[in-house]
Amino acid sequence: MTDQARPAVLLTGPVMEEVVERQLAVRFDLLPLDALSDATAGAVRAIATRGKGRVDEALMARLPNLQIVANFGVGYDTVDAAAAARRGVIVTNTPDVLNEEVADLTLGLLLATIRQIPQADRFVRDGNWLKGAYPLGPTLRERTVGIVGMGRIGKAIARRLEAFAVPVAYHSRRQQPDVDLPYYASLLDMAREVSVLVVIVPGGAATRHLVNADVLAALGPDGILINVARGTVVDEAALLEALKSRTILAAGLDVFEKEPHVPEAFFGLDNVVLLPHVGSSTHHTRAAMGQLVVDNIASFMDGKGPLTPVAETPWPKA
Ligand code: NAP
Ligand code: 8YV
Repeated sequence: MTDQARPAVLLTGPVMEEVVERQLAVRFDLLPLDALSDATAGAVRAIATRGKGRVDEALMARLPNLQIVANFGVGYDTVDAAAAARRGVIVTNTPDVLNEEVADLTLGLLLATIRQIPQADRFVRDGNWLKGAYPLGPTLRERTVGIVGMGRIGKAIARRLEAFAVPVAYHSRRQQPDVDLPYYASLLDMAREVSVLVVIVPGGAATRHLVNADVLAALGPDGILINVARGTVVDEAALLEALKSRTILAAGLDVFEKEPHVPEAFFGLDNVVLLPHVGSSTHHTRAAMGQLVVDNIASFMDGKGPLTPVAETPWPKA
């Protein structure tokens, strides 16, 4: 039973118990979503969420004293930040603390995909090396990589690619004055010119199926697609078809449209590497993300404002 004298934080699902929940419990009641009722709703001042279950207008409407939604993750496509703004509710995310980790994983996935590292591992385990050498495969050499989304993580990926001596271009809605790389206002134009696309834009309606059948066709039969953004950014059915028909060469995917459900049709393909959304999943980086969730809520409740409000959020107050 929630003690109405203490403010409560609503959890839409588990949020890193050992870092987030343990610290929040010192000064707030923690209310799981299934304990939300007319009797408990009034105490809720904050929501902590990690993308399991949407924080939408309907949920916020049930919480008359809600002030802040703290998202565990830099991507906050499961939070209706525009609806929160209309209600004067702050939304925070966890930018920057995961840039290098996600960029590391992206380069790992790119190399795994192009150099067929999981396939080669299976080859050894299956005893096939005893029968002959692993076949020669594709290369990163002589490719240009097109980064779709030159934000915080995109820039960390570009820095790593420079060390790999690979030319990089990028697409986003606006050219970045501080980025000295070829810019394409049109994703389709960039896909025609490069042989690798690395996707690292936010999810949500604006980027839904940005990578569609036309983009995959433009990437071409030597093309590699790496998606570490959100599953919704790529038309998964079109990608499956492109992999099956070898319209593109291969793909490396960390994210899917309906996680944790991955279309079984991918499992039988030898030209795709599949990861279970692990871009940031190390003890080090998840602890930093969790701490930022706690610090955002604490700072706001102490009257010092949110630390990392998202773009849509009404802060600083007009
Ligand atoms: P960010 O700094 O906000 O960068 C986003 C980039 O995408 C910007 O360059 C932005 O430029 C571009 N962009 C936004 N909307 C676009 C559109 N409609 N079309 C083309 N480009 C668009 O974000 P970040 O911190 O780098 O994170 C990016 C995303 O990565 C997150 O939102 C999250 O979904 C994903 N992510 C995944 C993992 C994982 O574990 N796999 C981990 C962390 C993050 P313009 O505004 O100029 O278009
Ligand atoms: C997290 C992410 O795994 O930050 C993001 O946007 O996708 C990942 O770092 C996820 O948000 C938490 O479940």
